[in-house]
Amino acid sequence: MKNVRSMHKILIVDDEIVICNTFSRLLDYAGYESQTAQNGKDALQMLAHQDFSLMLSDINMQGMSGLELLSQVVEKYPDLAVLMISGVDDRDIAINCLEIGAYGYIIKPVQMNELVINVANALHRRELEIINKHYNQQLKELVAERTEELNLAREETIMTLGKAAEFRDNETAQHTIRMSHYCELLARQSGLPDSQCELIRLASPLHDIGKIGISDTILLKPGKLTPEEFAIMQQHPEIGYRILVDSKSDSLRLGASIAYTHHEKFDGCGYPRKLKGSAIPIEGRIAAISDVFDALTTDRVYKSAIEVNKAVEIMKEGRGSHFDPELLDIFLSNMDSILQIKEQCADHND
Ligand SMILES: [Fe+2]
Ligand SMILES: [Fe+2]
Repeated sequence: MKNVRSMHKILIVDDEIVICNTFSRLLDYAGYESQTAQNGKDALQMLAHQDFSLMLSDINMQGMSGLELLSQVVEKYPDLAVLMISGVDDRDIAINCLEIGAYGYIIKPVQMNELVINVANALHRRELEIINKHYNQQLKELVAERTEELNLAREETIMTLGKAAEFRDNETAQHTIRMSHYCELLARQSGLPDSQCELIRLASPLHDIGKIGISDTILLKPGKLTPEEFAIMQQHPEIGYRILVDSKSDSLRLGASIAYTHHEKFDGCGYPRKLKGSAIPIEGRIAAISDVFDALTTDRVYKSAIEVNKAVEIMKEGRGSHFDPELLDIFLSNMDSILQIKEQCADHND
């Protein structure tokens, strides 16, 4: 079986060949494999082509100093243990070496025991640091994986809740998906920060969650609603808001805002609070445009889809009255991307 020590290759760097050879012999005697270099440049060459566990380097050398070599090596080879050796017992230099990243500082002349103990200690510390680094890396990957899982679960939960509400209203599940993409696109094109666009994408499927609280007789009534029934129907934004508003999650609270405001109109004639202009939060103004566009351009149980061109005309008529004019312009000027989403997320029976 191979000796554990001989698995570690040690590089000895000293401009005095006699010292290199002495150290090499001492290390060989202790069971380590070693190679020597007479200057920093050669040492760097050897490190670039071979795998060393430890470097023993003199401080005062011709050409590149030991400190310079140390700085380069800790940067390039973070897994290499480095012990510095000097003929001068200088506390400041020793501290400097340790600060740069050396594992230790040995004063010449070096006794065999002292050398072997320092080397063994440095190799042991190196091993622990490598194990620790791998452990941290694994931990980081695990946290990233779990976070991803949590995010997916959160997204799925929101989407499922949204679908549940839409199903009650004879809407298709794809409506919530398209609507969510339209909202995100419009948010991005309006220059909202990335994090807000992502939240809007996540939260917009919840816009009609309040329909859970509206009775089937009204929700599924085939004919026109009476004024009383319509008044009840108009409660769904507030019900949705109340379901979500106390959540600790940013996405659900944004969902509360979207649910509450997606039927407000820019001129103040919407419901439930008759908010006007910028008093309607931007997520509500974005959702209003996306929701109506999708309702117009897709089949519903009670009506057929209308042509996109016709839908655009209808929406233009609502510019400044129903819809925020600036947001509507942005939405309509991105029709290519909108139609791409419409096609990619088409209803399954299309
Ligand atoms: Fe609604
Ligand atoms: Fe909707």
